[in-house]
Amino acid sequence: MMIRPATPSDAEGMKAVHDEIFAAGLRKSPGDLAQVRANYIDAENRIGCFVAVDDEGRILGFQSLRHSWADNPYGVAEGWGIIGTHVSPRAARQGVGSGLFRATLAAAKVAGLENIDASIGADNALGQAYYEAMGFRTYRTTDGLVCKVYRVDQT
Ligand SMILES: CC(C)(COP(=O)(O)OP(=O)(O)OC[C@H]1O[C@@H](n2cnc3c(N)ncnc32)[C@H](O)[C@@H]1OP(=O)(O)O)[C@@H](O)C(=O)NCCC(=O)NCCS
Repeated sequence: MMIRPATPSDAEGMKAVHDEIFAAGLRKSPGDLAQVRANYIDAENRIGCFVAVDDEGRILGFQSLRHSWADNPYGVAEGWGIIGTHVSPRAARQGVGSGLFRATLAAAKVAGLENIDASIGADNALGQAYYEAMGFRTYRTTDGLVCKVYRVDQT
């Protein structure tokens, strides 16, 4: 498995990951190419967006880190980062998410971030377990969401 920054040619593969997560019942909507481009690849507030790729070049998962934006739907404070993680169920529990977070954390440090928010569905036990394992801790709960923070050590 290789971890590298996402490029425009990854859009189809990232959409396919969303489709696979949706098919497994772990996501409310299927993939959308325009949304993948707007929210991850071309996002203005992008700090980092990394893909995990297998030996054949197929995308196993991706993780995005963006600067919090005004009126974001999660109510995350300005100056924080907002993370999202998407791993195909066919590659689950093989260290893909952990590998992605190593790259994301390095990008967070370069960007000088102190706090990263992960807003996870209250019914998403595996998402919560994953972020907890990465070192995130719950700091508030709201509207069916469990919001966890990772305090980035900038020393
Ligand atoms: C949550 C998700 C990102 C985990 O990715 P992953 O590649 O399977 O994670 P890893 O294999 O790196 O697991 C890292 C740790 O997370 C925890 N974890 C991951 N999956 C878990 C599960 N199904 N049950 C319990 N703990 C789990 C474990 O502590 C694991 O370490 P271990 O395998 O050594 O015990 C992935 O399942 C996913 O994309 N799910 C659908 C979308 C989603 O829920 N995104 C996150 C919330 S918005």
